Amino acid sequence: MDINEEISRRKTFAVISHPDAGKTTLTEKLLLFGGAINTAGAVKNNKIEKTATSDFMEIERQRGISVATSVMVFEYNGYKINILDTPGHKDFAEDTYRTLTAVDSVILVVDCMKGVEEQTRKLMEVCRMRNTPVIIFINKLDREGRDPYDLLEQLETELKINVRPLSWPIGMGNSFQGVYNLYEKKLQLFNPNKTEISQQVADIDDLGSAQPEEYLNKSYADKLREDTELLEAYYENFDKELYSEGYLAPVFFGSAVNNFGVKELLETFLSIAPQPSSRPTASREVLPRENKFSGFIFKIHANLDPNHRDRIAFCRVCSGKFQRNAFYYHTRLNKKIRFNNPVTFMANDKKVLDEAWPGDVVGLFDNGTFKIGDTLTVGEDLVFKGIPNFSPEIFRELRNNDPFKTKQLEKGVRQLTDEGVAQLFVQQPGNRKIIGTVGELQFEVIKYRLLHEYGAKCDFTPLNYHKACWMRTSNSKQLEKFLSVKGSNVAYDKDNNPVFFAETPWMLKMAQETYPDIEFFFTSEFKTETPAEVTR
Ligand code: G4P
Repeated sequence: MDINEEISRRKTFAVISHPDAGKTTLTEKLLLFGGAINTAGAVKNNKIEKTATSDFMEIERQRGISVATSVMVFEYNGYKINILDTPGHKDFAEDTYRTLTAVDSVILVVDCMKGVEEQTRKLMEVCRMRNTPVIIFINKLDREGRDPYDLLEQLETELKINVRPLSWPIGMGNSFQGVYNLYEKKLQLFNPNKTEISQQVADIDDLGSAQPEEYLNKSYADKLREDTELLEAYYENFDKELYSEGYLAPVFFGSAVNNFGVKELLETFLSIAPQPSSRPTASREVLPRENKFSGFIFKIHANLDPNHRDRIAFCRVCSGKFQRNAFYYHTRLNKKIRFNNPVTFMANDKKVLDEAWPGDVVGLFDNGTFKIGDTLTVGEDLVFKGIPNFSPEIFRELRNNDPFKTKQLEKGVRQLTDEGVAQLFVQQPGNRKIIGTVGELQFEVIKYRLLHEYGAKCDFTPLNYHKACWMRTSNSKQLEKFLSVKGSNVAYDKDNNPVFFAETPWMLKMAQETYPDIEFFFTSEFKTETPAEVTR
């Protein structure tokens, strides 16, 4: 196969959701369809427990197991599918955000009883930043949930995306009858079944005929007629282009645990989801079909087990063919590196690969040469963009508890933050270090790893910041003034950009009003997103 054929048969995506909506269950069913696993439970057993345990070593143990499911690869109807796993535990949300930089589309799972939840909103914000195409799967229709019209409205208003139902539920909970596929005009009858993957399906082109009554009670058939008429009148025809550009999300209804609606979802996904697309770099757009290999690191997994202290860097191939044992150029370090044992990931295993194509993810054993966002090429000096940092949620000042180990502490903190465990901001004078994370757990991880891997002792002092705000302005005088007046609330990120730490939304609003030429952002890259809204 040539490169174009390899690209056009690849789909690289992530299944995302607020914890408990059914991400793991859906992923598992997709893998079952693809024959990548044989038994239900194979993925679930690898999942990090959601219970907010404070025993982070236990979580790390589970994370160690789950590295095997970081990327799940399978073939289906001639397609090569790469599902990138995203951790369910909320403290690892930043891992999820970064993983989303390496996919071409996502399936967002929503619980029909709970509707849009906190993490659904945040994940969608990240998708919107990059115009990532989103398919929504409304799950758990076997339970009594919210009215489907209300759900659609909530999706549109809270997720700020247009939606278009492609299937429609008939009844819900105990009276759930099945779904009608509006796109393919097929009725699928619900038959709760956790193991089988066959369902009764009938082609019904004309709902006005007597055909629906062959499968449904008259009241359900009439309601379906009424609903579809309403939907067809209200919604435009599904526009694949708008979906590919990230402006329109097709919506499916089903029940993942019952294998219901999953096959339709997968098949529609395969027919509409984008193939690996071009990626922006600081200097130019890189097209997947370019002959020369390029890729970037979006995730680094460090094994905390002292017996297996290895790190795996995950590289998304963006263009050309990746080959084992070839020399590649690490653009940040300006050095050539060769990978003898790059790995690919199977459902529960990893194995050495010889080549990979755009859309694939390669696992590279790493002894500290990589940072999140690093670029590999065959020689061109490229830096992939679109791998931003997001404002952390929790901020603490790092205190050194052993002055004799200052150097080790410095080195350890730099390396851990390069890996993406947390974000580091440094304030001068005084070399004051502010660590920002999305979860409490990361502070324990840092403390533990600094002690066990670097011999350094530290503690943290809570800081009462609301958000970290990156800044953009063409008025250098105003920025200079801001930095001198607000100096005590400014620190520098890993790329030496000044970041403003607003204690409250009000303080950010004041800064915006007093310094109108400065724009403030909650992410470190601001090509597409709108400036920070103080209401958040
Ligand atoms: P997550 O990865 O998004 O956190 O969710 P996960 O798949 O673990 O699903 C969360 C819970 O919801 C699980 O129950 C799962 O069985 C259940 N679930 C998933 N899909 C459906 C569905 O279509 N209908 C119903 N009724 N439940 C569904 P659990 O009790 O936490 O785990 P388990 O003991 O069932 O495995």
